[in-house]
Amino acid sequence: MFWTYWACLILAFVRFCLCIPGCPPETTSLTAYQTTKYLTSPNYPGNYGVFEERLSCSWVIEAASGYDDVIIQMEVLNSSLEYSLACVRDSVEIRDGDKEFHRSLASWCGATWPEGPLSTSRDKAYIGFSTDFKKNNYMGFILAYWLEKKPIQLTHDRTWGSVNYVLLGVGLTLLLAVPVCFLGLYIGHDVNQRRSVVISERKSGCNGHVTTRRKTS
Ligand SMILES: *[C@@H]1O[C@H](CO)[C@@H](O)[C@H](O)[C@H]1NC(C)=O
Repeated sequence: MFWTYWACLILAFVRFCLCIPGCPPETTSLTAYQTTKYLTSPNYPGNYGVFEERLSCSWVIEAASGYDDVIIQMEVLNSSLEYSLACVRDSVEIRDGDKEFHRSLASWCGATWPEGPLSTSRDKAYIGFSTDFKKNNYMGFILAYWLEKKPIQLTHDRTWGSVNYVLLGVGLTLLLAVPVCFLGLYIGHDVNQRRSVVISERKSGCNGHVTTRRKTS
C-alpha cells in the first residue's frame, strides 16, 4: 500500500530527527569497570513503547581487559514494564555469561524488579529486553553495572565440609565398631565354649567316646 510506505518513511524520519533510539539489530557491547556505569532501555525514562514496534535488544557486558578473576555486578535501580503473565510480552532477562542460553540470573516484567545486586560467576553478562507490538506508556528500566573481584570461594563451606567429614568418619567408625565388637564377643564366647568342651573331652581321656572308655585307676 502506498500510504504504509509513506507512514514508514515518515516514522523513520521522525525517529531519526528526534534521535529516539530503538535497538540496533546486533548485540551492543559494553565494558564494565570498577566505577559504576548505567544501561537503560531505549528512550529511558521516556516510554519504550512509543513507536508501536517490537523491540528486541541485547547487551553483553564484559569486564575491561587487564582485570583478572572478576565478576560483573548489576543492580536494577528502577523499572516499569508492561505486565503479562509469565512475562511473555515485555520482559528483561539477565544471564550469567555472554550467551542467550546461559543460566538466568533474573527476569522480570510489570512494576517490580529484582532487589539488590545480581552477580555473575564469570566476567561477562548478557541482558535481553524484548517487547510486543502494543503501544504503551511504560518507561522501561535502568540498570547499574560494575566489576568486582571474584569472592574467595567456599572458605566457610570448606571448613564446614571438613567438620562434616570428621563427623561422618566418627559416625561410620562407631557404626562399624558396634557390630565388629559384638561379633568379636560372640566369637570369643564360642571359642571359649569349644575350648572348655575340648578340655572336658580331654579330661574324659578318650576323645569323648564315653562308651568305649576303659576304666583306669
Ligand atoms: C522509579 O521511577 C519513578 C518514575 O520516575 C519514580 O516515581 C520512582 O520514585 C522511582 N523509584 C525508585 C526506587 O527510584
